Amino acid sequence: MSLILDVDHVGKTFVQGGLLSRREVEAVRDVSFSLDAERPEILSVVGESGSGKSTLAAMVLGRLVPTRGRILFEGGDVAAIRSRAGRRAFMARVQPVLQNPFEAFNPLKRVDRYLFATAANFVVGGGRTRAAIEERVDRALVEVGLTLAEVRGRFPHELSGGQLQRTAIARALIPEPRLLVADEPVSMVDASLRMAIVNLFGALRDRLGLSIIYITHDLATAYYISDRILIMRKGEVVERGAARAVLDNPQHPYSIALKQAVLTPDFG
Ligand SMILES: Nc1ncnc2c1ncn2[C@@H]1O[C@H](COP(=O)(O)OP(=O)(O)OP(=O)(O)O)[C@@H](O)[C@H]1O
Ligand SMILES: [Mg+2]
Repeated sequence: MSLILDVDHVGKTFVQGGLLSRREVEAVRDVSFSLDAERPEILSVVGESGSGKSTLAAMVLGRLVPTRGRILFEGGDVAAIRSRAGRRAFMARVQPVLQNPFEAFNPLKRVDRYLFATAANFVVGGGRTRAAIEERVDRALVEVGLTLAEVRGRFPHELSGGQLQRTAIARALIPEPRLLVADEPVSMVDASLRMAIVNLFGALRDRLGLSIIYITHDLATAYYISDRILIMRKGEVVERGAARAVLDNPQHPYSIALKQAVLTPDFG
């Protein structure tokens, strides 16, 4: 079995506070999991606020260096990537999807500019013509249910939140990555559009063979779309397994409480 991602006993400790109030926070503790290159899947990471999900994502994306353990992407240590060229090659394979699509785009800049710039950055060699760049951008937009004709010349506020999040996902697809790391990608999107976005993740997994790490508070979408789930609490994975099996029949008290919180209407 060849692994696209191997997270091996990873931990991250932050030092918070000043000279007199200095304290260490173990944001991630001894987390291990892997993703199989031949069997693309959506792995959901679920847990309450502060459980270490974004810290884990940042380490997978090479933005934070683990304090302990290591993360291998296609066999290479992510933390050992130092050169610009190495970083760029890595980013072509592993792309983030941000929480707030309005943060991913400057409000004063037309969204197609970003898409063209990303394509120009990643289309290499003799194919780097205007036509090749536009073709690549259009292909990525079609993957998310849009077209270049629909977004050409538009400013971010001229697209709906759902369209803008799709455009952000299209931008992430331009380098033809193998892994998407989506940290709360639907939490800023209107509830009625969430299912459409997570369905899109499912389609990208099936059509493009993309592996996706889907970080969310939303057990409903995690249940619906993910193949596997990790439940995190205070930096640790407390439960893991096939998503439906875990959520149908959670074993750990925290997982049970998490599920109860979703099922119990809050009239408070
Ligand atoms: N750069 C940092 N410096 C210091 N402490 C940090 C830093 N980033 C995160 N932390 C701490 O690490 C812990 C985990 O934070 P993290 O952002 O990973 O949680 P999360 O699960 O993503 O939460 P949320 O659901 O609110 O996004 C928290 O206690 C947080 O305060
Ligand atoms: Mg977070």
